[in-house]
Amino acid sequence: MNVPFYRHDLTADDAVAVANVLQSPFLTSGNVGRDVEERLCAYFGTKHALLVNSWTNGAAAVLLALDIAPGDEIIVPAQTFIATANVAELIGAKAVFVDVDPATLLMRPDLVRAAVTRRTRAIIPVHLYGQMVDIAALQEVLSDRPDIVIIEDAAHCFEGELNGEKPGTRSGCAIFSFYATKNVTCGEGGAVVTNDTALYERLLQTRMHGMSAGAIDRFKLGGYRHWDMEKIGMKANLPDLLACLLPSQIDTIDARLPRRDDLFAVYERAFADTPIRLPVTIGNSRHARHLFVIHVPPTIRDEAIRVFGENRVGVTVNYRAVPTVTYYKKKYGFTPGSYPVSETWGAGTISLPLFPSMTAEEQGHVIDTVRSKIVPMIEAAQATVAR
Ligand SMILES: Cc1ncc(COP(=O)(O)O)c(C=O)c1O
Repeated sequence: MNVPFYRHDLTADDAVAVANVLQSPFLTSGNVGRDVEERLCAYFGTKHALLVNSWTNGAAAVLLALDIAPGDEIIVPAQTFIATANVAELIGAKAVFVDVDPATLLMRPDLVRAAVTRRTRAIIPVHLYGQMVDIAALQEVLSDRPDIVIIEDAAHCFEGELNGEKPGTRSGCAIFSFYATKNVTCGEGGAVVTNDTALYERLLQTRMHGMSAGAIDRFKLGGYRHWDMEKIGMKANLPDLLACLLPSQIDTIDARLPRRDDLFAVYERAFADTPIRLPVTIGNSRHARHLFVIHVPPTIRDEAIRVFGENRVGVTVNYRAVPTVTYYKKKYGFTPGSYPVSETWGAGTISLPLFPSMTAEEQGHVIDTVRSKIVPMIEAAQATVAR
């Protein structure tokens, strides 16, 4: 049996949505996207939502809107996808890494506080794998620095909640990714949600070159309107051709979460009596169940990936610690042991297949492979260390 790492849920109905946009004269960002933005505001309970063509471009547009510039510092977790740190570097600011909690793999407010300097302009907590960082706790340790903006990386956390609050509720903004494997997807895309009207208004410009009006507004009522450009911006808008795939998913996302919950629970039960390490689930929260990750001894991780491949189970790695990649190593001179939790987790983690249409047979094959092939490898590695 062949189990892919991911299988999307888009159907023939979605092809109809694309065909409808093709029949309209307006292919780029227009009324379809505006409708999606309204749905996002309703879902997250935020004043504003803005579609973007990726998390990465949306985040860069946010940093430009906040006038973050060379010399400024942005604190990011060492355990995340490179994009979280790259956006700081892209605009010439410095990504400052902090280690994460060993149980949850989430950013630790105490380590963030210790990394703050007078140059710190923003913090990007990452709701890794689908669990939310405690934004209220972060705000508490930063209470003497209200100038520091919290930008939530909610790429994994569309459905997530903590203490009844969704991403974007109390921070500067939250940014989502609609990349191909995300819980809500349109192939490539993203969204920024915020309650900060001033940020939203600047973001409308930095999302579109810095122009004072987007295409749909320039041609409103048939008359051309001149635009101005006061600050530099990105080309980060999402075309209606992609935005049209989102409404059906936003409307059904909560109904689809129980299926992800079930798949998670089956994996957790199947691995409970094995030496496999899993991230700890936080209480009083709703987990978006984006990725199911396991941890094996780093000495056998690459061999385990090969064995998964041999057994036709699609797996991936989310993620090796960001400061260990060549760019950051060269730039900031990484010394092993600087981010012990992220380094150890990143050297041993493997993500297993998880998607709502996964069948019991498919999940059974993944579990059999883990229990019959990977667990003996872990036990052998642990016996060698114990000897
Ligand atoms: C945690 C995290 N942040 C940011 C991104 C970047 O998202 P995008 O591909 O939409 O730019 C990803 C994408 O996988 C991610 O997993």
